[in-house]
Amino acid sequence: MNAPISTTMRREKAGERRISSPIQSYLQTLHAELSGENAGEVATYIPELGRADPERFAIAVATVDGQVYCVGDAGMGFTLQSISKPFMYGYALREYPKAVVLEHVGVEPTGEAFNSIVLDDVKNRPFNPMVNAGAIAVAELMQGADGAARAANMLALMSAFAGRPLDIDESTFRSEQATGHRNRAIAYMMLNSGMITKAPEEVLDLYFRQCAVEVTCIDLAIMAATLANHGVNPTSGVQVLKPPHVRDVLTLMNSCGMYNYAGEWAYDVGIPAKSGVSGGIIAVIPGQIGIAVYSPRLDGHGNSVRGVEVCKRISEEFGLHVFNSQTSIRSVIRRQYHADAVSSKRLRTPGEWALLKREGKRIAVVELQGALFFGSVERLIRRVGKTARTADFIIIDFKRVHLVDAASARLVRRMVRGLLPVSGQIALTHLGHDGPAAGLRRKVDEIDQPEQILMFEDTDEALEHFEDLLLAESPQARQDGRFMLAELDIFRGLSAAELKLLEPIVQAFRFERGDVIVREGSRARLFYVIAKGSVSISIPLPGERRKRIAGIGPGLTFGEMALLDGGRRSANVVADETVTAYGLSVEKIRELSVAHPNIMIVILGNMTRSFSERLRRANEEIAALE
Ligand code: DON
Repeated sequence: MNAPISTTMRREKAGERRISSPIQSYLQTLHAELSGENAGEVATYIPELGRADPERFAIAVATVDGQVYCVGDAGMGFTLQSISKPFMYGYALREYPKAVVLEHVGVEPTGEAFNSIVLDDVKNRPFNPMVNAGAIAVAELMQGADGAARAANMLALMSAFAGRPLDIDESTFRSEQATGHRNRAIAYMMLNSGMITKAPEEVLDLYFRQCAVEVTCIDLAIMAATLANHGVNPTSGVQVLKPPHVRDVLTLMNSCGMYNYAGEWAYDVGIPAKSGVSGGIIAVIPGQIGIAVYSPRLDGHGNSVRGVEVCKRISEEFGLHVFNSQTSIRSVIRRQYHADAVSSKRLRTPGEWALLKREGKRIAVVELQGALFFGSVERLIRRVGKTARTADFIIIDFKRVHLVDAASARLVRRMVRGLLPVSGQIALTHLGHDGPAAGLRRKVDEIDQPEQILMFEDTDEALEHFEDLLLAESPQARQDGRFMLAELDIFRGLSAAELKLLEPIVQAFRFERGDVIVREGSRARLFYVIAKGSVSISIPLPGERRKRIAGIGPGLTFGEMALLDGGRRSANVVADETVTAYGLSVEKIRELSVAHPNIMIVILGNMTRSFSERLRRANEEIAALE
C-alpha cells in the first residue's frame, strides 16, 4: 500500500511553497503600467537605430551577489551606444596614471547635449568622458598594436563587465561609420587643437565599435552591478576595475551621465546613471544593485522616456536616492561583556571559577558588527576609550565586520596605538590575512609595539589567554604537577580506604602536543585526569573543519562520560602541549564497585554535580549574551 502523501509534501511537489518575490512582482507591475507610455521618438540619426521596434521594453535588476530580476524583452539585443562610455573611462583609469587620463579629458559637466561640439579651450581637453568629445579622446587610450587588436581589447573589456562574450553589431557599426560626420567633426577639431594625436578615422573606428557592442538588458544590469560591486563582476567573480576607479566612474556618471538632464536626474532620481541613444539606461546603487532599462523611444535629451520613468519610480519606491543614506553607525557594537559573566570554553576547577567570577570584570570583550567607516569607528573609539578606564584587558572581536574601508583601518590602528600606554593588553580577534579586515590586519601589523597587541583567530582563545593571566596573578595559582586522588573533584567524598582501592588502577601517561588522546567514535575504555598541561576537546563541523568546544587543564577530568554509557567517544581530545595525565580504566572501576558500590555512587554524584554546575553557568552565559 502506498503511504498517504501529506499536504506539505503534495504542495512541495507542485512547487507551491515558493513565495513570489515582491521585487519581481513590483517590476512586473511597473512594466505593465509604463507599457502604455508612447511619448518620444526612436533615434534615427544613425539609420540602423531607426529600425528598432519602439514597443520593445525591458527592465532588469542585478544584485551584487548576482541575483537577476527581469521583465519584458530582457533577452533582446541592442547596442550599447553611450553606455559604453563609463566602462571605457574605467579602462583608461585602470591602464594609465590618473594624471595622464586627466590630460586627455576633464571632469566638468557641460550642461550641453551629448554631441555638443564644445571643448574646454583653456584646459585644452574635452569637458568630460560622458559626452562624445570626451569619449572619443578616451577611445584613443585603448591599447593594441593595430585597429583589430584595439577592437578585440575593447570587446574583452565589455565582455568582462557583462560576464559573457559580447560581439559587435556590424550593421549598426557600419551605419554609424557611414553617417557619423558630427563625431568626425569633433574628432578633427580635437586633432586640430592637439587633444588627440592619432588619425581621427582610427580613433573613430574604435569609438563607433564600442557604441555598436550588442548587449541585452540582462547584460547591462550585470555590467551596472559590476560597478555596484566595487568593480567585481558578481557572476564571474572577476575584478574588472579597482574600487578607486569605480568611484571615479560613478562620480562622472552622477554629474554628467544624463547630459543636459543631469541636474534634474540627480534631483529626482539621485542614482549615478548613463543613457544611450539606442534606448538603454544603466543606474548603479553602490554596494546594492545595478539597474538596466531598455526602451528605444527617446526624449529631447536623448534619454529613453520609459527608462527615465522606470528609474524615477524604482528610486522612489525602494528609497535608492544616494542621499537617502540610511547607514546606521549605532549598530557597530553588537554587544559587550566581561569575563565574570561569559568565560572561555576552558573548564576550570571550582576555585578558579570563583576567582574568575570575582576578577573577570577586568577582561572586556567588545564585539563589533557591520561596516567600519568613519562614523562607526568614531563610535567604537569612544566605547573602547570608556572600557579602558575599568578593564585591564580588552578584546575587540571583528568576526562580524564585513567591511573596513582604508580610512577606518587607519583610525583603528591609531586607536590601538593610543590605548597601549593606558591599557594592559589588547587582543584583536578574527582579523584574518584575507577577508574583509585584511587591510586592517596589515595596518595593525605595522604598529611597532606588537607584544602588547595580541592577535587571536577567535575570541574564545583570547578570553582563555587573559583568564590564564588573571589566574596566574592569584596567590592560589596552582603550580601544576602532582595531584592526590583525594584532591580531585571527581573522587571528592570517597573514604581513605576507598581511595586506596583506586590507586592500583591508575596508569600514568605522557602526551606530546598534537597527540590525539581520545578519538571520536572509538570505544571508551579510560577516563583521564590531567596533572600537567592542557587539552582541547573538539567536534567535527561540515567539511574538514572542527569546533573546539572546551579546553581542560590540571585537576580536571575528561572522558568520564564513559562511566555513564561505556559507549563510543563523542569528541576528539588533543594535547595542546606536553601533557601528563592519569588514566583510570572504566572497566576496573566498575569491577571494584561490585564489592564497593559506594565508589560508583560517589563518583556519579560528583559528576552530576559538575554537569549541573556547567549547565547553570551555560544558562547564565546565554542570559548575559542576550
Ligand atoms: O556618438 C553617438 O552619437 C552615438 N554612437 C552614441 C550617442 C549616445 O548614445 C548618446 N546618449 N544618449
